[in-house]
Amino acid sequence: MEVSGMSGEKIRQLIQAASEQLRYAYAPYSNFKVGAALLAEDGTVYTGCNVENAAYSPSNCAERTAFFKAVSEGRRTFQAICVVGGQDGELTSYTPPCGVCRQVMMEFCDPERFQIILATGTEDHKVYKLKELLPMGFGPENL
Ligand code: THU
Repeated sequence: MEVSGMSGEKIRQLIQAASEQLRYAYAPYSNFKVGAALLAEDGTVYTGCNVENAAYSPSNCAERTAFFKAVSEGRRTFQAICVVGGQDGELTSYTPPCGVCRQVMMEFCDPERFQIILATGTEDHKVYKLKELLPMGFGPENL
């Protein structure tokens, strides 16, 4: 077990699953390809890629693709998400989730527990809690 509470093997699996999504990324406008792998509480992994649009604003990030796939199949609770990305799919640095994706995470995840794994490959990753990336986030509990 690592400090994060997830085994190194599980983390490598998520990095691998996120990286495999890069080939499906539809990013003809930015050429910035992103892949994500979302681990549901029951152990199921939902993957996603970014899907851009000629009108730009309808574009969807890889993280939200993964979340919406999972929620649309009945999952509501999650352990972790891994995100990888880069220009032309080259993983030269970490790809932190955008603010909109952090807010979507806040809807379904416990900010003290949900883990966000940023990676440039199976040998290099960093793990954050949602609370660190979205301090004092507004969520269902606030209503
Ligand atoms: N993008 C993601 O899919 N996830 C992120 O965490 C950051 C940004 C996408 C959106 C857009 O298609 C491209 O990367 C450039 O912003």
